[in-house]
Amino acid sequence: MAPRSVNQARNTQARPRGSRKTRPEPSRRASHPRARRRLIFALDVASLKEVNHYVALLADEVGLFKVGKQLFVHAGPEVIRRIHAKGGAVFLDLKFHDIPQTVASASVEAARLGVKMFTLHASGGTDMLRQAHRAVRSVCRAEQLTRPTLLAVTVLTSLGRDDLKQVGVRAGPAAQVVRLARLAQQVGIDGLVASPQEIAAIRRACGDKLTLVIPGVRPQGSTADDQKRILTPHQAMRAGANYLVVGRPIRDATDPRQAARDIVTDMAWGLSG
Ligand code: C5P
Repeated sequence: MAPRSVNQARNTQARPRGSRKTRPEPSRRASHPRARRRLIFALDVASLKEVNHYVALLADEVGLFKVGKQLFVHAGPEVIRRIHAKGGAVFLDLKFHDIPQTVASASVEAARLGVKMFTLHASGGTDMLRQAHRAVRSVCRAEQLTRPTLLAVTVLTSLGRDDLKQVGVRAGPAAQVVRLARLAQQVGIDGLVASPQEIAAIRRACGDKLTLVIPGVRPQGSTADDQKRILTPHQAMRAGANYLVVGRPIRDATDPRQAARDIVTDMAWGLSG
């Protein structure tokens, strides 16, 4: 059976357990500015033509555009300039992991590109994280740039207990996520990319200050694609997410703009609860 689209699913959403308020009607207009700023569209496309299309379509509907390895390797920094020129903000998701000097230098270049957020691996260790953070702070001060938010990646969701064991990590994924989250927080990293299931444990261990950017989100009733442990936008915001990353449910919708608006409406409901 063909997967159902977000739009097909939109009007068949059931009320999640534990919610006291009524799910709001999908909005036909762009609204909920506070929630909209927190929606990140994953620009998982392979051409500048598609970038132009989606950015023109969605610049007023989402807060940021995520540029990952595929698009950046294909198009380079030009893609960032294109998005900025069309009024979009960028989350650069290249997951830096190298010796401290190399990651610090790459982080400085990310700051100079004017991205709003970028990622590096917490497992690169405290020296790597600290040097990247210091280098970014100092270049932003010296060159009067807005400092980007540094986000640490903890344990990739593709790795299970056995994968960790193979590379010498005895802790299970959940314990390792919390360990790396604490480490990143200690050296002043601003936030983390985490799966929806990790939000509660990270908040318990690290408090409310870290910015949590959460992929693996699906509107209720839409296809899960290859995401295994998903939450709805409403549930993820209620659980303590600061930003949600959503790709295919918007990109592949018959009406991507309306799909983004529906997600924002659901996020706003989660924020208001
Ligand atoms: O299309 P979909 O909404 O699943 O896209 C999610 C985006 O978030 C993709 O760019 C994917 O690479 C990224 N991501 C993820 N799961 C993680 C980390 C990142 O899906 N654990």
